[in-house]
Amino acid sequence: MCGFFGIVFEERNGGLGQILNKAGERLSYRGYDTAGIAVFDKNSNYKIFKDKGTIEEVSDEFKFKEKSGYKGIIQLRWATFGAPSKENAQPHDDCKGEIVGAHNGNIVNTHGLIKELSENGHTLKGVNDGEMIIHILEEEMAGTGDFGKAIINTNTRINGDYAFIATPVSSDKMYAVKKGSSLFLGIADGYICASSDLISILDHTDKIIPILDNEYVEFTYDKYEIKSLLNGSKIERKPEINNLNVEEIKLGGYSHFMEKEIFESPQKFRNLLDVMEKHDAYKEAIKTIRNANNIYLVGSGTSYHAGRLGTYYFSKIDGLNINATFAADFIERYGHCIKDGDLLIAVSQSGETKDVKNAVDYFKKKVNGKVMGVVNVLGSTLAYNADIVLPIVSDIEISVPATKTFINQCGVFLYLATAYSGKGIDRMREIPALIEDFLRKEKEHLGKLAEILKNERDLHVLGYGIMYPIAMEGALKMKEVMYIHSEGMYSSEFKHGPLAIVYDNYPVIFLATSEDKDMIISHINEVKTRMGSVYTLAPYDKEIEEISDYFIPLDNAEYFTSPILAGIGLQLLSYLIGVKNGRNPDRPRNISKTITVD
Ligand code: F6R
Repeated sequence: MCGFFGIVFEERNGGLGQILNKAGERLSYRGYDTAGIAVFDKNSNYKIFKDKGTIEEVSDEFKFKEKSGYKGIIQLRWATFGAPSKENAQPHDDCKGEIVGAHNGNIVNTHGLIKELSENGHTLKGVNDGEMIIHILEEEMAGTGDFGKAIINTNTRINGDYAFIATPVSSDKMYAVKKGSSLFLGIADGYICASSDLISILDHTDKIIPILDNEYVEFTYDKYEIKSLLNGSKIERKPEINNLNVEEIKLGGYSHFMEKEIFESPQKFRNLLDVMEKHDAYKEAIKTIRNANNIYLVGSGTSYHAGRLGTYYFSKIDGLNINATFAADFIERYGHCIKDGDLLIAVSQSGETKDVKNAVDYFKKKVNGKVMGVVNVLGSTLAYNADIVLPIVSDIEISVPATKTFINQCGVFLYLATAYSGKGIDRMREIPALIEDFLRKEKEHLGKLAEILKNERDLHVLGYGIMYPIAMEGALKMKEVMYIHSEGMYSSEFKHGPLAIVYDNYPVIFLATSEDKDMIISHINEVKTRMGSVYTLAPYDKEIEEISDYFIPLDNAEYFTSPILAGIGLQLLSYLIGVKNGRNPDRPRNISKTITVD
């Protein structure tokens, strides 16, 4: 959802372009509609190179790596305000060529600002919201002559959730602002950098300062000051050492990050088990769940599906009800029901998803209840705002489609539900090996199924009970990686209308556990008698295998682990089909890893 990175050195000239380019590569999953850099020399000269296209395309066009300077900014855009074009690409400069900057997020009053700024005599090159920030800064600088004050005033004129970075061309200072979108500062010897994204900083330093909402930071190559956006008061915060493993960002022997991350799942699951058993937050989580009045759960997309699976785990293992909905629906659906003493479980890989943030903010404002964040990115907004943070320890996930993080989110819920009833979690230790065996044995079969399905434009994924969230998740992966229409449904619901779609060989993927055999056979027959084609993922069962056109066994999976194996199977299937169709699974068109807008 757009990403930026800015850095200030004392003197450096050569090599700046390479650093910016590298940061751009790290940020690439944030947006691939436009890319651009700004580089500055000590004589107050600057150049902006930007265009429509991916970081690789635009970097090739302008030879980013060869650019020099002592400070620079790079921005990658996922278009919301203004079409992907050179004019709307970032960074932007002001009318006088005195201020340059870029942003991430959404300025929702952009239309009004375009009118206001045009009437005030500004020459706007495009209609991108980031450009408005720079022209407002220009006006505020003319009024105050102080960049810090200009930042504070600018913040009162723009609405939305955002982070931005800006620099006066003739100064060695850079400024970065956070209001809603993520922002991190990296402190190193001889330079300081700021970015919307931790990963782009970790190449340079592990000394990280998260900047919080309504703060801005002013920095040179060796000094920084964090201040309140509301009144300019100083805020003391020291860097923390961040141990995220940057090695994760290498492909190793894999063709894509999505493939690598799927195959990393067993190891990440092992790490998760260790953390869950030792981390106090997990113990506290169980107590909090026990003491809560009503429990609500929100997440978006894949994270929501993991949470939905969690509600089945809690219901089946503990007889505990959790009210779950996708985050964007929370306020409308449950906003009037929540009360003091309730608990909100918010699930988010990035911890920055705006729909999740809205739900959390609303809950915190309205009631005196606890928020439990199930997050991957520590230091994210959700991690800061939650009362209890449950890390899923999947390490960095580069590929836009969530894979290993989904599996660990499911693991968190299986653990919580099991531990809640005081049951031992020993059987969970078998899950990593189960996943490893499944991937080793079934990759070839999934490849054959991918071959069968590769030309389909529509399909359904149906699951009963505990497999329903996985059906939704599998269908989401197919849409995202294959760019086809796929729908995940509760298998019993299919006969209530959708069955009319089925024509000769219409593809329907069924997901079954060992406990719903009779029900699933009945649902499979409803499709087979209408000449549909049935592909099934289930623990081995001769009868189900025989009535299916293709069968993938979820070997040794028990009832509660079947969804996890089926989930990873559908991840790999969608990956294999996507690749067969020439898609780049790591960067599905039109979407971005972190969705920081409404
Ligand atoms: C799909 C996918 C998305 C995210 C969703 C929420 O593969 O990754 O559906 O799950 O955008 O993101 P987080 O978990 O970061 O809140």
